[in-house]
Amino acid sequence: MKIGCPTEIKPQEFRVGMTPDAAREAVNNGHDVLIQKGAGMGAGFTDEDYVSAGAAIIDTAEEIFATADMIVKVKEPQAVERNMLREGQLLFTYLHLAPDPEQTKDLLESGCTAIAYETVTDDRGGLPLLAPMSEVAGRLAPQVGAWTLQKANGGRGVLMGGVPGVAPAKVVVIGGGVVGTHAAKIAAGMGADVTVLDRSLPRLRYLDDVFGGTFKNQYSTAGATADLVREADMVIGAVLIPGAAAPKLVSRAQLSEMKPGAALVDVAIDQGGCFETSKATTHADPIYEVDGIMHYCVANMPGAVARTSTQALGNATLPFMLNLANKGWRQACEDDPHLLNGLNVHAGQLTYYAVGKALGLDVISPSLALKS
Ligand SMILES: NC(=O)c1ccc[n+]([C@@H]2O[C@H](COP(=O)([O-])OP(=O)(O)OC[C@H]3O[C@@H](n4cnc5c(N)ncnc54)[C@H](O)[C@@H]3O)[C@@H](O)[C@H]2O)c1
Repeated sequence: MKIGCPTEIKPQEFRVGMTPDAAREAVNNGHDVLIQKGAGMGAGFTDEDYVSAGAAIIDTAEEIFATADMIVKVKEPQAVERNMLREGQLLFTYLHLAPDPEQTKDLLESGCTAIAYETVTDDRGGLPLLAPMSEVAGRLAPQVGAWTLQKANGGRGVLMGGVPGVAPAKVVVIGGGVVGTHAAKIAAGMGADVTVLDRSLPRLRYLDDVFGGTFKNQYSTAGATADLVREADMVIGAVLIPGAAAPKLVSRAQLSEMKPGAALVDVAIDQGGCFETSKATTHADPIYEVDGIMHYCVANMPGAVARTSTQALGNATLPFMLNLANKGWRQACEDDPHLLNGLNVHAGQLTYYAVGKALGLDVISPSLALKS
């Protein structure tokens, strides 16, 4: 198969769909890998790295879209890229179609087959191609929160780990899923006094078993949250209710009870945020203040660490990408129902129910698409 990887063109996107390691694996499996000139630069991979891996460097995205059987990307195709997609071409990337009628219409019109990273599943009910980005955002949250807490950034001037004789920062993590667990681990590793709140007792049992000595956990009620938030130096928002906007768990009124200069890091901002006063910010201007409390609400946190994020995403996508290339999408999806769950569009038809429901469009079952 000819596998093409164009440079990402969405603003502020520095990741790349294939690492040189992924390219090497594809080449070793007998495929041709076409990388757009400079595609890896934002993540610190040079064209020479790809050439050493056996890939060909191609000057333009147009040439890649014109020749590749499968396009591997990070972000959803932008309008100019959608114009270049062809009937029968396979697209493997994040799509997030439900809130995006224009992209959905263009993908349907293109006749391509599109598999969305975010809807591929695993045996444990997880989303294996979303999890690496949650791990990155979770681990980054205490790091950016610690920076936000510094005096020059408007923060309280508190050091995460304290020093001998001075208490460490108090960190509260609301939501103990992938983001929350990774955030808590790093905050505790920095020496902070960490409590994780979650509403799932099985999850709290797991956190207690595995991390009992590292950080505390508590059942998430409005009362427990209010008590902990009042005393906190940093609150990290990491809740998710699948398919719904994030619940608002800290109100504006509660800010006046908090310590002045405390930091709110709302990782859940991509689902609307879990603090009433959250609004999405960018890496260029990440923090703002409301009622004396500093807010960090960047919606694409993994972009700040594009190299780590690219490698983490590449590790997760690699086995699926190889299966798609080795077997073709039909056989790969027939053999793996989790990959089939990733199928969103095929030959002008939607194949993912939630997207059809959100956009009021007809959907055919993915298994029917396999036969068409
Ligand atoms: N900003 C970014 O760059 C970025 C990056 C990755 C993920 N995210 C977002 O981070 C959020 C968390 O993602 P995740 O992968 O950890 O999800 P997850 O499903 O692994 O974890 C969410 C947790 O929230 C808990 N929860 C639900 N309601 C709660 C409540 N009222 N109180 C306390 N806990 C509650 C759930 O029980 C679950 O354990 C999502 O909104 C995700 O989209 C943002």
